[in-house]
Amino acid sequence: KILILDFGSQVTQLIARRVREQQVYCELHPFDVSDEFVREFAPAGVILSGGPNSVYEALDWKAPQAVFELGVPVLGICYGMQTMAGQLGGKVESADKREFGYAEMRARGHSKLFEGIQDRTNDAGHGLLDVWMSHGDKVIELPPGFKVIGSNESTPIAAMADEARGFYGVQFHPEVTHTLQGKAMIARFVHDICGCGRDWNMPDYVSEAVERIRAEVGDEEVILGLSGGVDSSVAAALIHRAIGDQLTCVFVDNGLLRLNEAEQVMETFGRSLGVRVIHVDAADTFMGHLEGVSDPEAKRKIIGREFVEVFQDQAAKLPNAKWLAQGTIYPDVIESAGSKTKKAHTIKSHHNVGGLPETLNLKLLEPLRELFKDEVRELGIALGLPHDMVYRHPFPGPGLGVRILGEVKPEYADILRQADAIFIDELRAADWYDKTSQAFAVFLPVKSVGVMGDGRTYDYVVALRAVQTQDFMTAHWAELPHSLLGRVSNRIINEVRGVNRVVYDISGKPPATIEWE
Ligand code: XMP
Repeated sequence: KILILDFGSQVTQLIARRVREQQVYCELHPFDVSDEFVREFAPAGVILSGGPNSVYEALDWKAPQAVFELGVPVLGICYGMQTMAGQLGGKVESADKREFGYAEMRARGHSKLFEGIQDRTNDAGHGLLDVWMSHGDKVIELPPGFKVIGSNESTPIAAMADEARGFYGVQFHPEVTHTLQGKAMIARFVHDICGCGRDWNMPDYVSEAVERIRAEVGDEEVILGLSGGVDSSVAAALIHRAIGDQLTCVFVDNGLLRLNEAEQVMETFGRSLGVRVIHVDAADTFMGHLEGVSDPEAKRKIIGREFVEVFQDQAAKLPNAKWLAQGTIYPDVIESAGSKTKKAHTIKSHHNVGGLPETLNLKLLEPLRELFKDEVRELGIALGLPHDMVYRHPFPGPGLGVRILGEVKPEYADILRQADAIFIDELRAADWYDKTSQAFAVFLPVKSVGVMGDGRTYDYVVALRAVQTQDFMTAHWAELPHSLLGRVSNRIINEVRGVNRVVYDISGKPPATIEWE
């Protein structure tokens, strides 16, 4: 197993992810664990992460010295390389100019870390690598026993090695995908240099996570707000696997869910998995509070606030609950950490369940905190959740509330639910569901004239939206086949009363957003 020591870089979890990808077990711990901890952990190798600090500013930000005395390989990344150099007798220079972004690095000499790994070669036959740099300081003098194994103009010691001891340092970030051969380097380090086999997988992760949850929770009770989305569903299934009936889920039907969604959630969790789920039908309450409100942000706030209220009422009925479980995943962790410093401009306030922990006075249980979305999905499958649930498109917290433009009315929600179900149905039938990242229908409260049979109609418009995206920050509209769009339009107009016109949204993000509100 690999020990990763975290010096606070934003991408430390990516290192863990890359190691897990190689089917090697790893654990991430803060850099200031004790020498004793390191010895007891008995890793097959250690990775020191990058960090926001300068070796000079942070004289006490060092790896435990035991790391270098265990006789196992060590890979230092960025700050990790610098502290390794500093601690082993080399020199690091503080620089005020940062190197940030792509850089080309030449592999030098022969090293186990880079041997045979390259993006291309130069005229002299040296391997060249495209790497991602983000640093100010750099190593300017090697520690005794080390040699240079990679360099470029601005960073003559971009990578270093003491192969006798298995110590490697790289100034760039192999864990990010921008470093094209990063995955190959991590594989080289964990398999060939540390000698770890491919013997760890998702079922192992399940049993480890189950043990961790049991140890953390003991015999106390846990509540979880189940939305039917991937993250809260996987969290619920995992926690249930760990502590069974000590978990109670609260599923709030706000009247803004998709067709049959409540039934599906109750079926999957309540009946198939035997999870205790309290189904709260709060549609009337939500609709009541939304009456007359047409501003998107105001609607979001109301829906968010109502959710907290309903949830609190339920929690009050479970006085033994000491924990609030949430399906927070790693990208949420970075996003909220980043927002403190970046003060990102709020385009839309994404509500989710912010505010709950403080008001409820419960301890937080977040078993998915270290996982990325695709890992969460894999975990869901390993836990026996249905494929369709685990690979479902994301659905916003305010639900149909932001897909009914302007004022939300129950009859609009009914129309939208039917139209949306037809669209999704046809997408699945045409094998397009998995080729789009998010697809849905939007209700437009405007009427247009049509003709049906011999009569004139004057009915509402439904817009269809389907996008393709990696990260939902930017998106392309999906080029769905016209025949598919035609079928969807026909079915909606024929089957859904109150709609006589269907349009397809061909706006990208930016400048449009994915949701219409
Ligand atoms: P936009 O519309 O901002 O959406 O391009 C990007 C992604 O975020 C989802 N979204 C929300 N999710 N609460 C949520 O939980 C919200 O208020 C909300 N608004 C947008 C949207 O569905 C898309 O996946």
